[in-house]
Amino acid sequence: MTRSVGLSQTERTINNQNKPYHPKQHPKTGSFFSLYSPKFSIYLLITCALLFILFQIQSLQTPPSSPSSSPLPSWAFLNQWQKVIINTTPSTSTFNNDENNLTKSMAKKLRESVTFLPLKDLRYSSTAQQGHTWFMSSMYDTHEEGEAQYQRFPSSASKGRLLCLKGNDTHDGAWNSYALAWPEFLPDNSTLRKGITFVSYNHYNYDNIWHGLSAMVPFVAWHNKNQCSLIPARWILYHWGELRIKMGPWLKSLMQATFGEPLHIETFENSVANCFEDAVVMRHNEGGMSRQKRIEVYDLLRCKARIYCNVSLEGRLSEVNRRGMPVIGMTMFMRVNNGPRSFKNESAVIGIFEKECTKVEGCRFIVAYSNNLTFCEQLRDLRQIIPGDSSPGPSALLPVDHGMLTRGSKESLDDSTLSSLLSAQH
Ligand SMILES: *[C@@H]1O[C@H](CO)[C@@H](O)[C@H](O)[C@H]1NC(C)=O
Ligand SMILES: *[C@@H]1O[C@H](CO)[C@@H](O)[C@H](O)[C@H]1NC(C)=O
Ligand SMILES: *[C@@H]1O[C@H](CO)[C@@H](O)[C@H](O)[C@H]1NC(C)=O
Ligand SMILES: *[C@@H]1O[C@H](CO)[C@@H](O)[C@H](O)[C@H]1NC(C)=O
Ligand SMILES: *[C@@H]1O[C@H](CO)[C@@H](O)[C@H](O)[C@H]1NC(C)=O
Ligand SMILES: *[C@@H]1O[C@H](CO)[C@@H](O)[C@H](O)[C@H]1NC(C)=O
Repeated sequence: MTRSVGLSQTERTINNQNKPYHPKQHPKTGSFFSLYSPKFSIYLLITCALLFILFQIQSLQTPPSSPSSSPLPSWAFLNQWQKVIINTTPSTSTFNNDENNLTKSMAKKLRESVTFLPLKDLRYSSTAQQGHTWFMSSMYDTHEEGEAQYQRFPSSASKGRLLCLKGNDTHDGAWNSYALAWPEFLPDNSTLRKGITFVSYNHYNYDNIWHGLSAMVPFVAWHNKNQCSLIPARWILYHWGELRIKMGPWLKSLMQATFGEPLHIETFENSVANCFEDAVVMRHNEGGMSRQKRIEVYDLLRCKARIYCNVSLEGRLSEVNRRGMPVIGMTMFMRVNNGPRSFKNESAVIGIFEKECTKVEGCRFIVAYSNNLTFCEQLRDLRQIIPGDSSPGPSALLPVDHGMLTRGSKESLDDSTLSSLLSAQH
């Protein structure tokens, strides 16, 4: 009780800054002393301790040459105390203000020091696909044995910083840029995008199913590594740093089947900075992945595609011909685009393969056009054609050791090879 009275008195003194301290209060304090002697001595002790602390604060804030550091008589001491209280109150808040100002100015500086660099670094145009590549060239990939090379933001490699991307140029990647920023100090006017973002770099394009799939494989591997639990909230597709907002329908279907929901491909309708809560960047396709990992990815793709298309393998018997020989299905999957890579004389090519097929007993030849079949139609057609038991296993269908999946010779693979990769049985 006494103590609380004493404290409230102190508070009043602190609050009534304008009212000068009056020595008339002394006799009153004296009467308290005589009435509550034992308790009051404790009170006095506490007050003295408080005064001592306050005095110390004051002496810290005043230069050592000031008279406050010299011993003072009691009245002068109390006078000094009053000054301390009066001075300390604003000076403490000044100190806090300074600290706040400092924190604020540091935060401002951190936000302003976020530096955007061009996504496409022309200094490395001759080694565009090697090492740190020319895409986000200041960043290095994380590479675990046998896994796809990747970058994750935030991570210890990024020192906890998030990836920010700016720009929506679709013709020159040097106009789009990237930066790293700490989540507490994102650049001014930037938007924080929640969830997982997949950022893909593709040296070719996302329409061709071979090039497109090559760019997707490391993401599927990453997804698989995370027990298929992390579904991307958005995909950001780049080609030479240029934004791409579309993916071929075949690839899109396959990715939809794999991730279990439609893809959200980022379009960046404005050019302000976007920072991503969690981003995974892949720029080496399946580079760095072991053969085993690639097989796992294709297995997963096959499974997911079958589920998506409701293709059941049950009740399917290996077809046999009249003489009990297993039927060997041969499907030519044609891509009709009349482009530079189409056959000059399609019927001539078809004729050659058909002739070869007739030489083999039990061979059945079919020509299919992938452009007018839906993704699931392709899968079903091929399922019906390729016999389960005599078909080669997935390892034979992924001839990575023969250079077919390695860079430089991938032109040798066409859409039909890929489709058969997906529809092959074990
Ligand atoms: C804090 O900063 C603002 C502007 O930057 C300035 O006006 C103000 O005086 C500063 N306060 C202190 C206590 O330094
Ligand atoms: C943020 O946006 C405001 C209003 O659009 C603009 O005035 C300001 O310059 C922008 N700041 C930066 C750093 O772009
Ligand atoms: C890119 O952003 C600008 C505004 O910053 C906008 O006018 C333009 O339409 C955007 N381009 C695309 C392709 O979304
Ligand atoms: C697969 O089956 C489900 C339910 O039977 C159906 O809703 C879905 O449309 C089917 N998907 C395809 C691609 O046929
Ligand atoms: C294409 O090849 C077939 C069979 O070899 C031939 O009959 C036909 O004339 C050729 N067409 C053209 C346009 O060369
Ligand atoms: C698919 O396209 C090919 C060539 O364009 C054509 O010959 C064939 O009849 C088409 N099939 C269907 C089912 O439309």
